[in-house]
Amino acid sequence: MSSSNNSLANKAQAWSARFAEPVDELVQRYTASIDFDQRFAMVDIAGSLAHAEMLATQKIISAQDLADIQRGMAQIKSEIESGQFNWQLALEDVHLNIEARLTALVGDAGKRLHTGRSRNDQVATDLRLWLRDSVDDIAITLKSLRLALLDLAEKHAATIMPGHTHLQVAQPITFGHHLMAYYEMFSRDAGRLTDLRARFNRLPLGAAALAGTTYPIDREQVAKILGFDGICNNSLDAVSDRDFAIEFCAFSSILMMHVSRLSEELILWLSPRFGFIDLPDRFCTGSSIMPQKKNPDVPELARGKTGRVYGDLISLLTLMKGQPLAYNKDNQEDKEPLFDAVDTVQDTLRIFADMIPHIEVKAEVMKKAAEDGFATATDLADYLVKKGLAFRDAHEAVAHAVKACVGRNCMLTDLSLPELRFACGLDNRPELMSDDVFALLTVDGSVQSRQHAGGTAPAQVLAAIKRGRADL
Ligand code: ARG
Repeated sequence: MSSSNNSLANKAQAWSARFAEPVDELVQRYTASIDFDQRFAMVDIAGSLAHAEMLATQKIISAQDLADIQRGMAQIKSEIESGQFNWQLALEDVHLNIEARLTALVGDAGKRLHTGRSRNDQVATDLRLWLRDSVDDIAITLKSLRLALLDLAEKHAATIMPGHTHLQVAQPITFGHHLMAYYEMFSRDAGRLTDLRARFNRLPLGAAALAGTTYPIDREQVAKILGFDGICNNSLDAVSDRDFAIEFCAFSSILMMHVSRLSEELILWLSPRFGFIDLPDRFCTGSSIMPQKKNPDVPELARGKTGRVYGDLISLLTLMKGQPLAYNKDNQEDKEPLFDAVDTVQDTLRIFADMIPHIEVKAEVMKKAAEDGFATATDLADYLVKKGLAFRDAHEAVAHAVKACVGRNCMLTDLSLPELRFACGLDNRPELMSDDVFALLTVDGSVQSRQHAGGTAPAQVLAAIKRGRADL
């Protein structure tokens, strides 16, 4: 990037005649956005071409002007793509850089491009176009992640693990069912993405600086060329609204919160205390001092990056809260948080979509952990209820049995039928318990018996996966 001798740059842009002295150098750097809004180059050109086409249709500029603008923009595009374009700090932002180059290339037609337009509606349009492309990319990656979860869940529809509440063993579940909980979260995220895209796919151009323009413009034509579903209804709102960036960061924050919960579980499962899974080495790193270490860096970083995406959301909410209508330069600060959220979400989703299929499940360890924690105690209580005991009494009876087993360091299934009756304090009511009780005290029996929509029985997990596949 350079300051240039080019006369437009020296005059310090379009607003120069009003000023008696050049802008202070630090102020120039402070107010410029070219370092980061270069990312808009391609959508900025697309927006300008659509605007120019409309100006020509409406006879606001000539057909020759349009042709010159198109020729100039084609050249600028190739200069940018090949890295030849000379971005200048003195030209402040992506819009003025491209416009100045256009004028250098094609003369007066370049100076006519900005007729009936302002950088205020221009940047609002660029933001929406750029975010729309990003949203469409993210939707594809999010879909791959959901598919990866469905595939892994299908493999483990009948793999037993302990389900937890309070991080204490609660009841046996299947690993497939557990994964499908995350599938549900990410499906809601995908729905949110679709919703917000539909809401923001509207054209700001035509609002000009804030009040609209005196030229006979056709906003619908521009909207159509750029693939918008319609136009922003109010010119003041069009240039100042950043709800869509906030909504995207809210979507991103919720999505990252889901990723972070999954990450926390992966980290726990990978710890030798659990030992439920392994991850391929390429998703982990070692320690520079402890040779035995294999650290789950990817999930840890995803958990960490969740905080920074929340920060992006808070930045944008705070950016907007004090702004009077309409455009204020504050809005230039909308870009970096938005870019950061897009980049972080996209990278995180890519890595997780790639990593999930390679999670190595240690089914034996998972099952053993479910068996060790009295996870079928509720099943025993339910059994007694079905035999006629009131639930609270059944709960109490089983609590006694668990206490007895803890004392003897054994499992419920290690007891004989008379021992189990005795441990429950039910030896005087033998009709409440017979040999069939042992089948449902097994972890397999326990998950099999949760046979209803949304339950953990393998057949229900497979049904949920089938619904998921139909959705995708
Ligand atoms: N670089 C500016 C931004 O990002 C473009 C709009 C500038 N408009 C203005 N009136 N100074 O918001």
